[in-house]
Amino acid sequence: MNGRDLVRSVRMVGSVGAAQGLRTVRAAWRRRRADATGLPSRKGERARVPGLVQDVEPGPGGGVIRFSRSELRITVTVSGAVFWGWDGAGPEPSYALSGRSPEPDPRAVLEPDKDGGWRVVAERVTVVVSRHGAVEVCTPGGVMLRRDLPPRWWEPDGGGGARWMQRSEVAADARFFGLGARASGPRLRDGTYRLWNTDPGGAFGPGDDPLYLTMPVQLVVADAATHLVFHDTSWDGRVTLREGEEGAGSGHDRAGTCELRMDGGPLRCWVMVGTPARVLLAWASLTGAPALPPAWALGHHHARWGFGTEQEVRRIVAGYQERGLPLDAVHLDIDHYDAHQVFTVDEERFPKLPVLADELRRHGIRLVSIVDPAVKALPGNAVYDGGTAEDAFVRDASGRLVRGVVWPGDAVYPDFTHARVRQWWGGLYAERLAQGFSGFWHDMNEPTSFVAFGESTLPRSARHALEGRGGDHREAHNVYALCMARAGYEGLRELMPEERPFVFSRSGWAGMQRYGGSWSGDVATGWPGLRASLSLVMGLGLCGVPYSGPDVGGFAGSPSPELYLRWFQLAAYLPLFRTHASIRAGRREPWEFGEEVLEHARVALLERRRLLPYFLTLAHLARRTGAPYVRPVWWGAPRDRALRDCEDAFLLGDCLLVAPILDPGADRRAVQLPRGWWYDTATGRAYEGPGRVLVDAPLSRIPVLARAGAVLPVRGADGGLELEVWAPAHGRAGRGLVVAEAGDGWDEPEIERYVARWEGTRVVVEREGEDGVYEPSHPVRVRGLAER
Ligand code: NOJ
Repeated sequence: MNGRDLVRSVRMVGSVGAAQGLRTVRAAWRRRRADATGLPSRKGERARVPGLVQDVEPGPGGGVIRFSRSELRITVTVSGAVFWGWDGAGPEPSYALSGRSPEPDPRAVLEPDKDGGWRVVAERVTVVVSRHGAVEVCTPGGVMLRRDLPPRWWEPDGGGGARWMQRSEVAADARFFGLGARASGPRLRDGTYRLWNTDPGGAFGPGDDPLYLTMPVQLVVADAATHLVFHDTSWDGRVTLREGEEGAGSGHDRAGTCELRMDGGPLRCWVMVGTPARVLLAWASLTGAPALPPAWALGHHHARWGFGTEQEVRRIVAGYQERGLPLDAVHLDIDHYDAHQVFTVDEERFPKLPVLADELRRHGIRLVSIVDPAVKALPGNAVYDGGTAEDAFVRDASGRLVRGVVWPGDAVYPDFTHARVRQWWGGLYAERLAQGFSGFWHDMNEPTSFVAFGESTLPRSARHALEGRGGDHREAHNVYALCMARAGYEGLRELMPEERPFVFSRSGWAGMQRYGGSWSGDVATGWPGLRASLSLVMGLGLCGVPYSGPDVGGFAGSPSPELYLRWFQLAAYLPLFRTHASIRAGRREPWEFGEEVLEHARVALLERRRLLPYFLTLAHLARRTGAPYVRPVWWGAPRDRALRDCEDAFLLGDCLLVAPILDPGADRRAVQLPRGWWYDTATGRAYEGPGRVLVDAPLSRIPVLARAGAVLPVRGADGGLELEVWAPAHGRAGRGLVVAEAGDGWDEPEIERYVARWEGTRVVVEREGEDGVYEPSHPVRVRGLAER
């Protein structure tokens, strides 16, 4: 135990109590002992590189290129995505892919290149392989986007999984994004980022890395094109990024570099090239469409660790209602469990949960339940007994149950990498549905085990089914939460086939959007935490997970009224809009910060409610196209350098640009505008982009600008859908997509297409159909006319 561990264990004992503290010491020793004997030795590792090219075997979409010490398989697929894998690695099996890998493109063929290399030319991409095994991905015009140098493996004596390393180069002007949810982004600066889902063990800020949700997905944005690169291995790893430097026309550009070091797993990769929208579409078709949240989940949620009783829940709900504040969901944390045990209820403090749920539902408010994966290791606990009968829990190398420590004390962990275990676990949500819950909040699923020292998760030697292949926690760790999300989602689909499940999860991995979203975990209260919140949501969206949001006000401590309000105003424009805080934190209800904050928070809540149809449209479009709701301002113009470097504002869909206040004391801010005209939605004033403008941001609001020509579905005063249309620039037309949906089921509403154009001094709005234009299906209100 080193000094830091000692401090941590003393803090742990202080915060969780003596008995639990002792358990964490024992858990840490158990973990250390298990790994001392249960892991294969790395002794006598030998390094290997591919060697020189020998021969090739053309196949559909590319083929296999043999080198003296390895082979490389390349396939360009019909979707334009490129797959390559070394050492016999194919695209499957994969936890990220949503189904079979896409068909190879029959027109893409392997042909000889200069200097003994080979290449595959396809419609949207050219892949060039050198005779040493460097792989270049180029635009059809031949501009290099990425050059992966020949990899290097280290193989342990006597076989077993190899560690590997690969260096890559990207354009000098390229910027890196992604790698899951990172607090210091969204642009990933020079540094090393770890790929190992980690509970930081307390509130985190921008300097903390890694966090709960990592994934080996990078979005690289450069002048020549945007590309997404996915290294499909779930093992622990490190990515070191270094942005390049342009030589200001001197011809001496320095390329950007990326070095990936993985502890194991296949060396295989997918690359998608194009515009940001095209790349995210290709990613969603590979890894699955984002689940569509039920409509209510796009409203406002209020959570708290420590409501404590049904009466307190009623008091909070009444507080919202008496003040006319919209509320759509209340979340119950672990304090409503019986002694912190998952799938139980404290009958004394929550004696009539189904009655409470029913009452809330009649007022349009849903109940959401936390679900932790760890099960109290106690015979008599029904989940423990059921799981034991199913042989559902993770075991160590010698077959003993692996025990960790979480809120209920000593606990065991379902092995979600086994289909049978997922099926069993999914069935347990029946108990939650019977209690009246409508949505599910997966927590502690990195998975976390409290330990006094060492890593706060399961031993690396713990065994997992890995869909029948068998393996250990080194491979299963990062996909644990993904598999838990699948278990919950699939269980709910069976239990309530009529409704779309609502699941969001603290941890996860590539492909998790198929089952739901995420939230930002225990973000620290403070202005840096507010900034981190935006980084996490944007970064995750660029990795294909469009639905997430932070704890408004931060998880711990007490925000100042100003900080709380600014956080609230930002989150009103994020997909998950939820206030939440720790049991030891100060209050988070909008009325707890004085009259002025209450009034401004009310405006934000009412605006969110008004924008619900727009959020629903964005959710539908995310499902159909993979485009996140929250997009960096460079989304439509990735070549605009000023936009590419802008991290403090975002586009909400195509129509709105949101510029939150991220610093104290501000009453206006600079906003970097993309090309075109933009209206300040509060004042109606019009600004022309591209360029930087100063916009007022009094405490009552954050700047929200509407794109000229935007057609936004909003909720009218009578609750019906209306079209809010912002006058297009003169001589130009505006367009908008609307998905008008009622209900939380599986109906496939059609996409309505609108066009707005000038006719003399009027703006006319029409709905486009296959055989002409029609009257709009909803009332129209044109704005921005007076300002032009
Ligand atoms: C950790 C979660 O991040 C937090 O949101 C939750 O309140 C606590 N666990 C207690 O369940």
